[in-house]
Amino acid sequence: MDQAEAKRKVGRRAAELVDDGQLLGLGSGSTVAAFLVALADRIEEETLSVRGVPTSHDTQRRCEELGIPTTTLDEEPRLALTIDGADEVAPDLDLIKGGGGALFREKVVATASDRFVAIVDASKAADTLGEGFDLPIEVVEYALPLVREELVDLDPELRTDDGDPFRTDNGNVILDLATGPIEDPQALAHRLDRTVGVLEHGLFLDVAERCLVGTDDGVQERKN
Ligand code: A5P
Repeated sequence: MDQAEAKRKVGRRAAELVDDGQLLGLGSGSTVAAFLVALADRIEEETLSVRGVPTSHDTQRRCEELGIPTTTLDEEPRLALTIDGADEVAPDLDLIKGGGGALFREKVVATASDRFVAIVDASKAADTLGEGFDLPIEVVEYALPLVREELVDLDPELRTDDGDPFRTDNGNVILDLATGPIEDPQALAHRLDRTVGVLEHGLFLDVAERCLVGTDDGVQERKN
């Protein structure tokens, strides 16, 4: 599969879902980057009037470069539609996110949004979440020793960047959890929600209403 081409195709299809006047949640990652390019084209060609809340500094910067108007949840606390990527997609459209470290803001924006559409290339499809991707969690550094001990059975690994701890846009660190196939995602989500020091986890359960999957043959649509 030509992954870059699959991302472009799915990004273009996602841009077609946007209606004039909408307030958008703008996810993070390379698939979203392709969506933003297609959205910027529509804004220019059709004089679409939309504004988006970016979920990362990277997406904010891309919007500025592409001329996509942005806003904040402070100004616009409710959003119509969020478009975001994912690291794994289960058949029921539950997701693992956070490969880029933006999972906290992504979850905030998803929660503020009436609709959420995931956009992925076919390599992200999984039968069971966790079978091919470790689950990221964002942790407040002060609590890191406690969280590591609490989750020791999941073999937490501190994410690094050039030898230093990777820092999120919120100044926190990421632990990647080697969960293996997650048989009960709700139970794991509840456990992580209850773990003091975990700011947020990358399980997005019952969030996506639709997933667009870029393949060699075009874009497949999966709905819940
Ligand atoms: C960012 O933290 C992630 O949740 C991304 O949405 C996810 O990693 C998908 O990124 P790509 O589109 O680059 O694969």
